[in-house]
Amino acid sequence: MVAIVSDKDQLKTEALDPERVPKHVAIIMDGNGRWAKQRGLPRTEGHRQGKENLRRILEACVEFGVEILTIYAFSTENWERPPAEVNVLMSILELVLDHEVKKLHKNGVQVRHVGKMDGVSPHLQAKIQKAVDYTRNNTRLILNVAFNYGGRDELVQAIRRIVADGIPPEEITDALVSQYMYTAGLPDPDLIIRTSGELRVSNFLIWQGAYSEYYVTPTYWPDFDKEELRKALIEYGQRRRRFGKTDEQIDS
Ligand code: FPP
Repeated sequence: MVAIVSDKDQLKTEALDPERVPKHVAIIMDGNGRWAKQRGLPRTEGHRQGKENLRRILEACVEFGVEILTIYAFSTENWERPPAEVNVLMSILELVLDHEVKKLHKNGVQVRHVGKMDGVSPHLQAKIQKAVDYTRNNTRLILNVAFNYGGRDELVQAIRRIVADGIPPEEITDALVSQYMYTAGLPDPDLIIRTSGELRVSNFLIWQGAYSEYYVTPTYWPDFDKEELRKALIEYGQRRRRFGKTDEQIDS
């Protein structure tokens, strides 16, 4: 056994049990602004570094055997930020769509959009749709990009569509509502990670996250590296998910 020198060294010696890797991981990528402020940089530099980190974490997810990664890239409330910051976030997404989609496709990543198109500029809408169509048949990892997404808004649009489809009340079940969510057909997230230490859900996957395990780290998103992800996955693997049942029921 290797001597334990620090938390980080310990992490490197701890193996990830492939049987206990969460299938679906969702991440609230928080702390870009504070990361930049700490360094005397503009907030937008934090978002740029956040984009770079996303690439690293995506690679690590493939390596660790995560099958679905959902990222909170832009919420329905983020439109209220200063226009210059909103513009930078839009241009980062556009950059990703213009320059990263081919690479994602080559690596077997299927890109999906989780959120609404209303309010998104028509040329960005077209680019999002193109990326989704281009990568549609990839199976190595599903990357759900929650963009212009809000959990309450998702529920409101689901209720509207259920009513518009004339579904009788007695046919409205958990499973049916799930089919009206942007994530229809996908399993709920097993693990939701939030960086930067905030203890809030922030309107993210409020339906799908009902029984997700939460993991919060003080690390700001641009610094949340592969070893931090490994630590989160190891901790998830040690948790006991009961889904409202008792330990005895789970054991029987
Ligand atoms: C939260 O940090 C982060 C965001 C609102 C944007 C997340 C975007 C990226 C990581 C870039 C990649 C994006 C796309 C579109 C693929 P914050 O700004 O709230 O940080 P703070 O709480 O420290 O101010």
